Amino acid sequence: MSEIANITLEGKTYECPVITGSENEKAIDISKLRAQTGYITIDTGFKNTGSTKSGITFLDGEKGILRYRGYPIEQLADQAEFLEVAYLLVYGNLPSKEEFLAFKESITHHTLVHEDMRQFLEAYPAKAHPMGIMAASLCTLSTFYPESQDPTRPTEAIDLTIHRLIAKTPTLAAWAYKNAMRHPLMYPLNKFDYCENFLYMMFANPSEKYYADPVIVNALNKLLILHADHEQNCSASTVRIVGSSQANLYASISAGVSALWGPLHGGANQAVIEMLEAIKNDGGKLDKWIQKAKDKNDPFRLMGFGHRVYKNFDPRAKIIKKAADDVLNKLGVVDPVLDIAKQLEEVALSDQYFVDRGLYPNVDFYSGIIYRALGIPTEMFTVMFALGRLPGWIAQWKEMMEEGQPIGRPRQVYTGENERDYIPLEKR
Ligand code: CMC
Repeated sequence: MSEIANITLEGKTYECPVITGSENEKAIDISKLRAQTGYITIDTGFKNTGSTKSGITFLDGEKGILRYRGYPIEQLADQAEFLEVAYLLVYGNLPSKEEFLAFKESITHHTLVHEDMRQFLEAYPAKAHPMGIMAASLCTLSTFYPESQDPTRPTEAIDLTIHRLIAKTPTLAAWAYKNAMRHPLMYPLNKFDYCENFLYMMFANPSEKYYADPVIVNALNKLLILHADHEQNCSASTVRIVGSSQANLYASISAGVSALWGPLHGGANQAVIEMLEAIKNDGGKLDKWIQKAKDKNDPFRLMGFGHRVYKNFDPRAKIIKKAADDVLNKLGVVDPVLDIAKQLEEVALSDQYFVDRGLYPNVDFYSGIIYRALGIPTEMFTVMFALGRLPGWIAQWKEMMEEGQPIGRPRQVYTGENERDYIPLEKR
């Protein structure tokens, strides 16, 4: 017999069905509660609210498990190609060899961005944050493909938009960087695969032959895979809620980029490095910064620590920490900021404040160290996160559209003034 949750309100009991997920996750379905009782539930920050059922990503924050479509993140990060993972997330299964070749070919052939986009880019000030440029550019892409405005088009047309997004986002990201440097833009080259092509557009210049170090290509591939999806986080939920109004996919993804930008979400990777540099410049006084993080009157938080769902460890951080060591060793990079990061981790993990609250290094704590070693400038770190997260956002949007989910529209408990009469200005 299926489980039922009883809710008693004003002496009357109402039955709410219990939903069980494929990993035995339990949820009480309260979707009819208001219609039956007049009551809503309240859960600021959605700490306890499931906004959807989803078959894309499973994570268990207590056990530190993360799987895309059932595949453990450790196996994917170790063995897969980022585009393979993108295909897996978007289409639900790993591609066959033929499917993968066709997918890669399609992505490769859509990497070029319309030449008129350059006019927008050139208009941005050199100091513009690349996340602002990314959010704007991705939304601007919709204006070049007016036929894409209708998100309920046939599958082939939707696929074309998906492929264009995956193909053009690295080009736009690299161009945002080149433009900030006022360097000549590099056009994508079809002979390169996804990661190599991105590195080429970021770091090549027209007068030299370009060679991508395989250590760097592999590290980038791993980082993109680790960031590719994370179920109903702030940016994925934003993509879903914007898409639920049937805004087009470009607009929905652009909204996801804006949500990711904040330092409590993807922007943390930039904030971590800035924090570590500040600690280093301050003479490496870790205790002082730990005290600041614990002081409730000080807005400072230890960036790269804590997570809404991981309360034991973040499995992505574990993989990235090892990868950071490998990359630095292989490239022969000595980074004093890495030493500060390691000491800070050690001090924080033995401090009761952090232990009591389950605050551990998250994915962003070590990713910035690798990005630095790869030569990626600090302001581009969150763009790198966005590049990785793109297939996840697309998969979340696609699942929502295919399931015909209703427009996202939370309720509220009003706590403002009761009705009062307007007083004309001269009498106030
Ligand atoms: N430094 C110091 N104290 C912290 C921190 C931190 N980084 N994170 C949480 N706390 C404290 C917080 O003050 C609160 O203490 P108390 O119970 O005494 O009031 C307690 O821990 C619980 O924190 P919360 O803010 O209620 O937890 P949350 O689930 O709402 O927030 C978080 C999660 C990630 C926003 C938060 O831990 C944080 O701000 N971390 C730093 C920013 C960061 O690294 N963000 C990247 C997240 S991983 C990448 C991604 O997926 O986006």
